[in-house]
Amino acid sequence: MWKNNYSRREFIKKNSLTGLGAVIALNATTSVLYNCANGASDPAILGGIPVRTEPWLSWPVWDMEKDEEQVMEILRSGRWWRGAGRPSVVDEFEKEWAETLGVKRSLAVVNGTNSLIISLRMLNVGAGDEVIVTPYTFIATTHAILETGAMPVFADVDRETFQIDPEKIEEKITSRTRAILPVHILGLPADMVKIMEIARENDLVVVEDACQAWMAEINNQKLGTFGNAGCFSFQNSKNLPIGEGGAIVSNDDDLMDKCHAYHNTGRPVGRMVDLIGGNLALMGNNLRMTEYQAAIGLAQLKRLEQQTETRNRNAAYLKSKISGIPGIIPYKLYPNVTRAAFHLFPFRYQQEEFNDLPKEAFLRALRAEGIPASGGYTGLNDKLYLKDAFQSKNYQAMYPKEMLDFEKYLEENKCPENDRLCSEEAVWFSQNMLLGSTSDMDDIYDAIEKIHANSGRIKDSRNT
Ligand SMILES: Cc1ncc(COP(=O)(O)O)c(C=O)c1O
Repeated sequence: MWKNNYSRREFIKKNSLTGLGAVIALNATTSVLYNCANGASDPAILGGIPVRTEPWLSWPVWDMEKDEEQVMEILRSGRWWRGAGRPSVVDEFEKEWAETLGVKRSLAVVNGTNSLIISLRMLNVGAGDEVIVTPYTFIATTHAILETGAMPVFADVDRETFQIDPEKIEEKITSRTRAILPVHILGLPADMVKIMEIARENDLVVVEDACQAWMAEINNQKLGTFGNAGCFSFQNSKNLPIGEGGAIVSNDDDLMDKCHAYHNTGRPVGRMVDLIGGNLALMGNNLRMTEYQAAIGLAQLKRLEQQTETRNRNAAYLKSKISGIPGIIPYKLYPNVTRAAFHLFPFRYQQEEFNDLPKEAFLRALRAEGIPASGGYTGLNDKLYLKDAFQSKNYQAMYPKEMLDFEKYLEENKCPENDRLCSEEAVWFSQNMLLGSTSDMDDIYDAIEKIHANSGRIKDSRNT
């Protein structure tokens, strides 16, 4: 008897001795056999049996035995902030993160958003400056630009890689351009070699938003170490999860001393000490990471290398399988990419190959099969938060009226490639799904394949 919580894979396993499963395994898409299986062929969204009912790996991973000792020790000591005595756990976490990335310095801060704000500010990006950025990112990236008082300028994406298109960056450079803020979105590398070339030619600073790109590499060099500064997030969903947290990395001692002073209420360190002489402090803020956050970070760091390997291996396997399905175009990596982080696994969905089944209906059908999937971001180049900033007292004081004309701004910042990517094409799976087995990847393939085979029926049904 088929029950709704009895997956097609379990059916195949159970029946393989009778030969039926073997035949199905050989030709899993054969509609005759699906019909034999009393509903195994029916898409779950139309009442059929889901491909999968097993849960996916829950996130974050936490091992009470191995991970808690240092955290508990700190909690019991009462030395919770990084200034409370030596040796500081935050110092230790910074040292390990810098060593992991092969960069001179790292500064731990409260979150990724503020790692971007501090970096931009300490590189002297501010009012009147233009910062070139992708419209395809989490909103914190563009919030960070607005927090400095600078103007975000959007360069369209390359839909094949999901990343900012270097050619579009060049088209956007004006006399006011001060910085490029490339985002390695989804944990896939942006084209840093070309972006650094453009920055050098035009005398621009580069802050890499690597908030989704821990351990990813171009030509064996870790992302975050190409620009003047690299920024990371350790928020709960991230591949290196602390709950909240962030880091700035750089080889530039002057910049890192400035960032350190700023994040610690302007208290000078390193070269900044001589600079301010007997004065109390520089301009600053309190953006310090706590000791117990750093201890969680150290515990998570121990598994990051192996998890990154697993994600890369499963992503390559899944990519090779699903690229055979018409209408599924997985992400492309630039040829110099030696490793990605795969915070998300993206592909482009072409509805014309699925009997014109809209993306939202495809996503619903996929979720019904037990495969969580997201349609991803909406573009950031035309949203209300920008108008809100332009209407603020600060922006009104900093910019002439014509530069805050929102309709004009929208016109100048159109990103048609990104609009298409967001509304019609992009589909993501989350990083925890890539930590499973090859058989888990097969479930994803089977579900997409099943929806493809039944897309006409799903389209015609009232459920969608
Ligand atoms: C691309 C990107 N930039 C910046 C951030 C901001 O990081 P946080 O949430 O740690 O402030 C995030 C976090 O989701 C992100 O994904």
